[in-house]
Amino acid sequence: MKHDLLGLKELSADQIKHILDTAASMKEVVKSPNKKTPHLQGKTVVTLFYENSTRTRLSFELAAKYMSANAANISSSGSSVAKGETLIDTAETINAMGTDILVMRHGMSGAPHLLSPLVSAAVVNAGDGMNEHPTQALLDMLTIKEHKGHIEGLKVAIVGDVYHSRVVRSNIYGLTKLGAEVSVGGPATLMPMGIEELGVKVFDNVQEAIVDADIVMGLRIQLERQKKGLFPSTREYFRFFGIDEQRLRLAKPDALVMHPGPVNRGVELSTSVIDGERSVITDQVTSGVAVRMAVMYLLSRGGF
Ligand code: NCD
Repeated sequence: MKHDLLGLKELSADQIKHILDTAASMKEVVKSPNKKTPHLQGKTVVTLFYENSTRTRLSFELAAKYMSANAANISSSGSSVAKGETLIDTAETINAMGTDILVMRHGMSGAPHLLSPLVSAAVVNAGDGMNEHPTQALLDMLTIKEHKGHIEGLKVAIVGDVYHSRVVRSNIYGLTKLGAEVSVGGPATLMPMGIEELGVKVFDNVQEAIVDADIVMGLRIQLERQKKGLFPSTREYFRFFGIDEQRLRLAKPDALVMHPGPVNRGVELSTSVIDGERSVITDQVTSGVAVRMAVMYLLSRGGF
């Protein structure tokens, strides 16, 4: 049977823990001077990106290369997608070239779920619309675990554009399965209806969400997904909902500051918070390579 990583909704707590444990050992490779293992020797990994990306795309590619895979990337601009080829035809073409792992990002929620039964390659969701971004949540959890030693019992506040965020959805599934207490906060216009059904506390402001938090995670304002103005201006957003040093004092004194990137400096977080001593944003990036190594390695061996 073929195995994929489409979302954390489908994974059990034990499966998530298994990925995180594997990623912790992969991190040794990322930090070592000789970044080459035989884990994916002879395998082919293709990243297919219909949306912009810096961290996710590069980290999948480097993760594949560190494990000796053949790695190639294709994006919608510059490929036959720009000539009107459909997603399904494009994926079948990539599959027919002997691809073992197909990593994909698409603006439509459910795109990787649609492709999975049509290709023999293992499909990894690198972000589908506003649905899920499982490897981002896994790298967030690995970073938290490394700094705090555990996830169970932690208070995690995720604040910002909750409505458009696939990162928040994957984190809610993953963190609650591992026993964290999650609250979300932000403007009411950027809060999806019914989000409390996922087992989180919901606030229409940032202050209440971050009181006593162990982790404060900012989310980017997804201007590219907003059809109409859902808040007056980015300056006003920062004034009412941005995280600066003063607001951060509401969280625990040793709270970590996280953000999936790219950050809009001075909109979601102040520059002093981004570059401050509590920020682990750069560690998140390193964890990203390790998590993607672990996910692809485990998939090549039959899943989680
Ligand atoms: C996130 C994404 O693409 O969903 N970025 C990322 O993968 N590091 C978050 C974002 O773009 O805001």
